Amino acid sequence: MELMDIIESAAALLKQQGAEQAKIGMILGSGLGAYAETLENKRFVNYADIPGYPVSSVVGHKSRFVIGEKAGKTIVVMQGRFHYYEGYPQSLLSLGVRTMQRLGVEKLLITNAAGGVNTSYHAGTLMLISDHINLSGTNPLIGKNLDAFGPRFPDLSNVYDRDLRTALKALAKKHDIELEEGVYLMMSGPCYETPAEIRMARAIGADAVGMSTVPEAIAAAHCGIKTVGISLITNMAAGILDQPLSHAEVTETANQAAKRFSALVDLIVSDLF
Ligand code: HPA
Repeated sequence: MELMDIIESAAALLKQQGAEQAKIGMILGSGLGAYAETLENKRFVNYADIPGYPVSSVVGHKSRFVIGEKAGKTIVVMQGRFHYYEGYPQSLLSLGVRTMQRLGVEKLLITNAAGGVNTSYHAGTLMLISDHINLSGTNPLIGKNLDAFGPRFPDLSNVYDRDLRTALKALAKKHDIELEEGVYLMMSGPCYETPAEIRMARAIGADAVGMSTVPEAIAAAHCGIKTVGISLITNMAAGILDQPLSHAEVTETANQAAKRFSALVDLIVSDLF
């Protein structure tokens, strides 16, 4: 199937569930999917029921869109995402965001679990993404440009919207929520990085490292959706602490931070978006 046909059929299924009211989109990362359960009047569309859609095979990721309301606003949520390391070309990782754009979504919150590269961080730190470094080795816009979404050579100088970041930092401060700000670096995964790679990441200006978000943020920038990115630091990156990394640690930290994370997301929905 052509990308555009997949997107149109996904948008049609979501519209049947009232998603054409949604101006807000959300992508929930590893261990963070529970936030979708807090929406009112929830409706669901499983990725598996959308022709041509990939599904997420990762433990801790559901594989569905959730449409619901919060603070009187309709939100369309990706509860679980697909990743490059699952074997999907990055062009397919653009599908969720582009489907949201077709519905009329104007603002997008992208979340992820990430490793802390900045040594002043700790497991549990919330980081607002100021910018990213794409070391995944590829790009979601490779292939024929879909002119309906944006230009062949999109500008990436404000991927994580500056005004929204300024406003969110003020909001977090007012509500006593600790929020760092830093640069997210994407590696392909699925291995966690080596200590040498993490030293390189720090040297080139990264504060956090992960295996997602960048393809979605690029797709959003391409089609003019304003993006806010939040990383939950679930572990310090390889070589910083004298202990091995594991997915169990990632989901455990995410579960422990769920309340603080939800409070921040509620604030974004009610006061920022
Ligand atoms: N590296 C890459 N991705 C991650 C990490 C990490 O340390 N923690 C959670 N996702």
